[in-house]
Amino acid sequence: MPEGEDPEIVAEVSEKGGVGKTSVTSGLIAVAAEQGLRVAGVDLDPRATLTDEMGITDPKLSVNDIYFVDPDERPRDPAEIARETLVRAGKHWPSNAWILPTVRKFGNRETDQTTSMEYRLKRALWGLRDLIDIFFIDCPPRPGGKIVGSALIASKKVLIPATLQKDGYLGAREALATIEHQTSPGGPNPDLEVVGIVRSIVPTKRNFTKVHEHWEKRLQEKWGDLVLPTVLHDYSVREVCRTGSMPITSAPGREAKLLVAGYRELLHHTVPTLKEKR
Ligand SMILES: Nc1ncnc2c1ncn2[C@@H]1O[C@H](COP(=O)(O)OP(=O)(O)OP(=O)(O)O)[C@@H](O)[C@H]1O
Ligand SMILES: [Mg+2]
Repeated sequence: MPEGEDPEIVAEVSEKGGVGKTSVTSGLIAVAAEQGLRVAGVDLDPRATLTDEMGITDPKLSVNDIYFVDPDERPRDPAEIARETLVRAGKHWPSNAWILPTVRKFGNRETDQTTSMEYRLKRALWGLRDLIDIFFIDCPPRPGGKIVGSALIASKKVLIPATLQKDGYLGAREALATIEHQTSPGGPNPDLEVVGIVRSIVPTKRNFTKVHEHWEKRLQEKWGDLVLPTVLHDYSVREVCRTGSMPITSAPGREAKLLVAGYRELLHHTVPTLKEKR
């Protein structure tokens, strides 16, 4: 294993879809890169939304190669495969932003019976700790499955994006239940820290309805201070970045600036000691 500091590993998790996991992941990658950190996205969603957004299509190797073990061959060290899989993000991204891309067939790993497969990601990321300061893992919205399990084993911290809708609330509740299994005494990752719930895709004043108000109140009543002060608003520039495979930090306009400010604040909540890492 190469020498290096402990890597920061942060997973974005919710058990509901469309709550902002991928957007929060790519926003945090963008602001971490802007601050000069060597940052990598880890795309564990077989639909490859983050991979695509970070400008990678048809990667030679993917997270699937890190997880997959051919039963007829001697298993290779995931750390070694990770070094071959890690690629720089596409041309619109800064050169200190990297990604472990995914491919569609990675979805097959969810039902893979290989022993200890869930531990391969942790080994892979630790094997990159001389190259990368901080990892952000984009998880699929699947409840309690092996892929999300592997992310929770590898991570030091978890962020839970939640929209102010029923799905946001339920996705957070189910994710917290899954995380509790991981962190219970004797569980696979007792040191895992829940940074908090981040309100995401929140309508601006004009479109903020009673329904949003209701779910915001429910979130706060149930989880109190676990609901982070950062609010990520619903701004159409988000979709522009996604379509153009570019970081939010390169997008023009006021809304992009406001989102960047939100992601910076969120990065600070997530890794308060960041300055020491640069
Ligand atoms: N702050 C925002 N403003 C406007 N649109 C947003 C914002 N954040 C996310 N979106 C959009 O909302 C949709 C869902 O967001 P995103 O893909 O990040 O959620 P997800 O939880 O990763 O979804 P999935 O579970 O399907 O992977 C996307 O079309 C995304 O571009
Ligand atoms: Mg996603």
